[in-house]
Amino acid sequence: MAFDPKLPKLPVGVIGAGAMGRGIAQVLAQCGCEVRLHDTDPVAIEAAIKSIGDALGKQVDKGKLTASARDATMAALMPAPTLADLGASALVVEAIVESLDVKRKVFAELEGIVAADAVLASNTSSLSITAIAARCTAPARVVGWHFFNPVPLMKVAEVIDGLATDPAVGDALMALTRRLGHTPVRAKDTPGFIVNHAGRGYGTEALRIVGEGICDFVDVDRVMREAAGFRLGPFELMDLTALDVSHPVMESVYRQFYDEPRFRPSVITAQRLAGGRLGRKTKGGFYDYAPDAKPVVEPPPPIALPASVWISRAHVEAQSEVTWLLGKMGATVEAGPVPSDDALIVVTPLGMDATTCAIEEGLDPERVVGIDTLVPLALRRTLMTTPITRPEVRAEAHGLFASDGVAVTVIEDSPGFIAQRILAIIVNIACDIAQQKIATPADIDLAVRLGLNYPSGPLAMGDALGPMKLLTILRGLQDFYGDPRYRPSPWLTRRALLGVSLTAPAR
Ligand code: NAI
Repeated sequence: MAFDPKLPKLPVGVIGAGAMGRGIAQVLAQCGCEVRLHDTDPVAIEAAIKSIGDALGKQVDKGKLTASARDATMAALMPAPTLADLGASALVVEAIVESLDVKRKVFAELEGIVAADAVLASNTSSLSITAIAARCTAPARVVGWHFFNPVPLMKVAEVIDGLATDPAVGDALMALTRRLGHTPVRAKDTPGFIVNHAGRGYGTEALRIVGEGICDFVDVDRVMREAAGFRLGPFELMDLTALDVSHPVMESVYRQFYDEPRFRPSVITAQRLAGGRLGRKTKGGFYDYAPDAKPVVEPPPPIALPASVWISRAHVEAQSEVTWLLGKMGATVEAGPVPSDDALIVVTPLGMDATTCAIEEGLDPERVVGIDTLVPLALRRTLMTTPITRPEVRAEAHGLFASDGVAVTVIEDSPGFIAQRILAIIVNIACDIAQQKIATPADIDLAVRLGLNYPSGPLAMGDALGPMKLLTILRGLQDFYGDPRYRPSPWLTRRALLGVSLTAPAR
């Protein structure tokens, strides 16, 4: 293999001078590689080199980069008007249009241009590396190298081994990724690789919750941001990525896994896509981004308090947490084994709805309100009602749990509220990625934290929340809906039962 990732002036060809190609060319040139940038559109090459120069110039102005470093990078970046100009490359990175036919043609042509031991990498986000390589005469040198947009800022890249890829090729690319200052993660060639596979839970479960009429999308965003610690709520995120990107990815990963219910897309986004409500870029998505858009304001909580509160004994840990909280607020918490006739009845389910709790525990469903104790009660609290919880009971519960100034979201009945469902799905999908040996547990967590900006890796998140609790939530959801979407991954089930970390590989 001519490709030595340590070679100071490694000759690299980049094909495609669009959003990704220019970013990849920039980071390669910045670490000393001799980069030749090709595109069928000569204007795109020129524009890419100019935009890299402008971006680096801004960094020089801000004092973040020396002028000589900028000059060295720009000197290492050369236009390649024809594909044949990439002949001396030890590595060629393809970042052209996302079409299997077009990519296959380009790879076939490249094989006739570069040396027999040059490496050919594709930045595809949704196509199979194995399929791209299948038409090559030397598929062992074809590999996936998946960056994220914008490349200089998103410091992670997936290195993907196709069925025929020589492992030494992936190893060398891992080393080059480190040289760029990015974190490499290694994945088997499967739909969505790691990041776009692991990312299927957040939006799809949020859409199911809203689709079922449990609450509004704003409620989901508030809970996931404030109580679960995500930087953006799932609907804010969809508005940012835009539905013309995120909905096709949802469909593609779902179809490629032969209609795997865990990834099932939603008619909500299909319809919004058809209607052109794509997100920020069309100034209207789930939220309104027009200059005169009114900010979304949360109404104040009702001023109402119950005479007394009785807390379910079903979950001892949750009972004592809620009792402590209500005691601090000065509420009268009943100590008896059953609620008095006027008490607000609070249940603390995991993966169960308020109705089922009321029936199973023999409680009056007109006075039952559930509270989600999976996520910290100090941040934002989620309450849910049965379909027949009396409006005054709902108002009293809302008023009570908001009386110390912490925000409260009240939703309709849901097995797993909002956060329990979404968090359990995220962790379960990550567990199954580990179960399928698509990547190591450590790489799954790294890829998701860096590629999706989640507050922590999903397996570490599962450990922090409690694998047994998550298993209970998923079993409850599967039981209630009868939907295999919620079937727990064997990885989660076994590690929860054994009491070992979700990050623990099999011995
Ligand atoms: P883009 O549309 O911004 O740029 C593609 C460029 O490729 C264009 O300049 C076009 O003229 C050129 N091109 C098309 N066919 C060509 C050919 N046969 N030979 C040479 N140049 C050709 O696309 P973008 O967003 O940069 O995506 C490129 C690849 O990267 C795709 O495979 C995409 O799936 C993948 N990707 C995109 C990400 C994103 O967020 N945009 C993230 C990660 C991967």
